[in-house]
Amino acid sequence: MVWVEADITDFDSFVKYDLWHDRAVFHFLTNEEDRKKYVKCMDRALNSGGHIIISTFAIDGPLKCSGLDVERYSPEKIKNELGASFKFFKSISETHLTPSNNEQKFTYFYFRKIG
Ligand SMILES: C[S@@+](CC[C@H](N)C(=O)[O-])C[C@H]1O[C@@H](n2cnc3c(N)ncnc32)[C@H](O)[C@@H]1O
Repeated sequence: MVWVEADITDFDSFVKYDLWHDRAVFHFLTNEEDRKKYVKCMDRALNSGGHIIISTFAIDGPLKCSGLDVERYSPEKIKNELGASFKFFKSISETHLTPSNNEQKFTYFYFRKIG
C-alpha cells in the first residue's frame, strides 16, 4: 500500500487505478481552473473503463463545510464538469448526520472512464 499526500490540483499520479473514490473533496474546488485540474488528474490516474465514485454536497445541501464555501452538485451539473470522457451511470442521495447532529445532504455519483 502506498499513501500519497498531495494537492489534487497539483498532482500527477505515477500509477494507474481502476477505482477513483472521493468523498467531500471535489466540492471544495470553487474555482473553475482547479476543477479542470482535478478532472485532468483523475483522467490520467485511471485505466480505461475505470470506476469513479464522487460524493459532494447535494444541490440543495449546505453552502459551506468547515466554514469554507463549497460547490453543490446535481447529476447534470457534475456531468458538465467531468465532460465527455466520463459516462454517468447513477446517483444516490444520502443524508449524513454530523457528530454535532446536523444534517448534511450528500449525493454520490457513479461514472466510468470511457476509452
Ligand atoms: C470534509 S473532508 C472529507 C474527508 C474524507 N474524504 C471523508 O469523507 O471523511 C475534506 C477533505 O478534502 C481535502 N481537500 C480539500 N481540498 C483539497 C485539495 N485541493 N487537494 C487535496 N485534498 C483536498 C481536505 O484536506 C479534507 O481532508
